[in-house]
Amino acid sequence: PRARMVVDKAFKIAEVDRRIYGSFIEHLGRAVYGGIYEPTHPAADSLGFREDVKQLIKELQVPIIRYPGGNFVSGYNWEDGVGPLNNRPKRLELAWRTIEPNYVGTNEFMEWAKGVGSEVMMAVNLGTRGVDAARNLLEYCNHPGGSYWSDLRRSHGHEQPHRVKTWCLGNEMDGPWQIGQKTPVEYGRLAYETAKAMRLVDPDIELVSCGSSNTAMPTFPEWEAVTLDHTYEVADYVSLHQYYGNRDGDSANYLARTMDMEHFIRTVTATCDYIKAKKRSKKTMYLSFDEWNVWFHSNAADQAIEPWSIAPPQLEDNYNFEDALLVGSMLITLLRHADRVKMACLAQLVNVIAPIMTENGGRAWKQTIFYPYLHASVFGRGTSLQPIVESPVYDAQDYTDVPYLDSAVVYNEAEEEVTIFAVNRNLNEALDLNCDVRSFEGYQLVEHIVLENDDLKAVNTAAEEKVKPHSKGGAECRDGFVNARLSKASWNVIRLK
Ligand code: AHR
Repeated sequence: PRARMVVDKAFKIAEVDRRIYGSFIEHLGRAVYGGIYEPTHPAADSLGFREDVKQLIKELQVPIIRYPGGNFVSGYNWEDGVGPLNNRPKRLELAWRTIEPNYVGTNEFMEWAKGVGSEVMMAVNLGTRGVDAARNLLEYCNHPGGSYWSDLRRSHGHEQPHRVKTWCLGNEMDGPWQIGQKTPVEYGRLAYETAKAMRLVDPDIELVSCGSSNTAMPTFPEWEAVTLDHTYEVADYVSLHQYYGNRDGDSANYLARTMDMEHFIRTVTATCDYIKAKKRSKKTMYLSFDEWNVWFHSNAADQAIEPWSIAPPQLEDNYNFEDALLVGSMLITLLRHADRVKMACLAQLVNVIAPIMTENGGRAWKQTIFYPYLHASVFGRGTSLQPIVESPVYDAQDYTDVPYLDSAVVYNEAEEEVTIFAVNRNLNEALDLNCDVRSFEGYQLVEHIVLENDDLKAVNTAAEEKVKPHSKGGAECRDGFVNARLSKASWNVIRLK
């Protein structure tokens, strides 16, 4: 099979907002305790954070990290996590039914995030709490001093404000699993009033209004239409969350799941624009895809975990090769919507449905999905270009006309580099790609990175990295055309300069 593409520097979608390569750390399982934080580990720094884990995160160049939840935030008292360690309470954590010891809280996390070079996207509790706790937390974090909460922060050893710019107004408030679930009207009103108070504390913040938890929610997309009717003028973004899994072992169908992600982004964009028209507003609402990933491998194991322990191994999906292909396609989908999706968080970052895993007291290692995330984050900065694609298609169980070739292109004007990201979804045959890049005169091939494996179910472990990329892809660039053979079921990064 053959596919053709035209890539032209004039076909601009938008500048890629670097924050689409964000991630997420929730107080859940071993993400914090035993993940980023383990004071007894030989690689722990003076605050108890693991240096080996920090190194892997730095490699990924994660621009923004969402914190502290997730479902956790809907029952969180942020005050429990600040001040002297020995005064901090141990709480029943109801979202994941564990004990939260509060060894790590806002200040420790801010220090850690600075150390890995990331901004923080902070979420406030709109489940059990509301306007008051949110405005107090914001005052604690961002007000310079001379008020009760800002002076409390200073008394906790943080003289300078943290200046957190981005704030999520709650988490998945449409979900019956959420502590303090809301109807769309209840949420819309609460989010609006919270946003109003928060903006009075700090007018420079950006706010994310809660969207649907996934496309299968019965309230999608009415949730967006109703809630945005309330929050449109006070929020800057609406959130999208989506996880996929290959539950029925149908890989062709699984790799087509980004057709659903595509439909999700288009529907939310359309709903935002409908509200914009209805309100005669001049403002454009942007999208924050602040939870996305594969999540299903660990579902059964999680059922067997006894409640009320500290940091049990929850949501520890061990990702295989085909999961990495889908993660690559999800990144491609985000890039193709760079005009509206301005933030996104791979959920999550360490141990919990994560690209990075740790052994308690031992090694830190890379899952299969680490690699597409790494490549997109490192090489996908610049302007997203619209590739014109002619690809053979296939029909899967839930989708028709699925292109075998899934691709996005990023032009980094400053570095004079072009990167083609491509997944060949064909599980049985290679795809011969011919790509017209004549508008990039004089550009040469830098490398063709490939992630491939004969076994779709191959996984990495702490001891062995079976799935890792190589740079022997064999693409050629001559007379303004790139020719490449994309192996069956492969993730490809073709770099030109
Ligand atoms: O990321 C894991 C969980 O998935 C988050 O806590 C929640 O927001 C979502 O349902």
